[in-house]
Amino acid sequence: MKSKLFLISAFHFLFLVQFFSVSCKHEIPVQVTPIDSTNQNGQNGCSPDTVYFNNKVLPLIVQNCAQSGCHDATTMARNVLLTSYTSIMTTADVDAGRPDNSELYKVIDRNEMPPSGPLSTEQKNMIYTWILQGAKNNTCNDCDTSLYSYSGAISKTIRDYCIACHSGPNVGTTGGGILLDNYDNVRIQGVNGSLLRSVNHSGPYPMPKSGNKLSDCRISQIEKWINNNFPN
Ligand code: HEC
Repeated sequence: MKSKLFLISAFHFLFLVQFFSVSCKHEIPVQVTPIDSTNQNGQNGCSPDTVYFNNKVLPLIVQNCAQSGCHDATTMARNVLLTSYTSIMTTADVDAGRPDNSELYKVIDRNEMPPSGPLSTEQKNMIYTWILQGAKNNTCNDCDTSLYSYSGAISKTIRDYCIACHSGPNVGTTGGGILLDNYDNVRIQGVNGSLLRSVNHSGPYPMPKSGNKLSDCRISQIEKWINNNFPN
């Protein structure tokens, strides 16, 4: 009886994996961008030992899992929606304090998700630690409006919120063909006005796509970067 049950569930599982890989076809490049816990402004009190959901976890999940055709609001592959705290907690079966009992972590740890290729060890550890620490809907202030150079501020925002969609050979699918993978390419979008329009939601394509609007501080850094002629 037990082994029969196991067979059924193993079959069911394979079917789901198969089904998903068909329904979410586009290939997204593997993200190896390091996610560090260093702050842009240490004294604003992001504890280096804490993984903050809104600063690190949500942007990582949105970029790697909520592209169109996957776990976005339109497709909701496998009925999993990965665009907000509530939807992640409920549809990805997060068991606060128990990463090994959380579907979200298990599929990532087993390299079943994202279908385009595994997350880095550092990214997996981040999700593990966040769940272990209670899977809280927490935020810390890691932004300093007085910084606005590319290397001091802008590149970090792009890395944490945009790069997985806006880089790599499949950027035509994942990022509408817009590359944001280096200073020159980000500057192009700054010069033509798309960058600011997209992040302050005044244009036709609000960014980050499927994610929350950036904080006022981050938008203000981008604005200053543009108005001060794109300091590197
Ligand atoms: C989940 C994937 C995803 C994320 C995350 C994302 N983008 Fe996009 N972006 C797209 C897609 C896809 C398009 C093409 C337009 C569309 O389909 O909405 C696009 C279009 C753009 C455009 C062109 C808009 C225009 O007016 O033509 C800019 C600029 C842009 N994104 C900037 C950003 C920035 C800055 C971030 C991070 C703060 C970001 N994007 C995060 C997927 C993403």
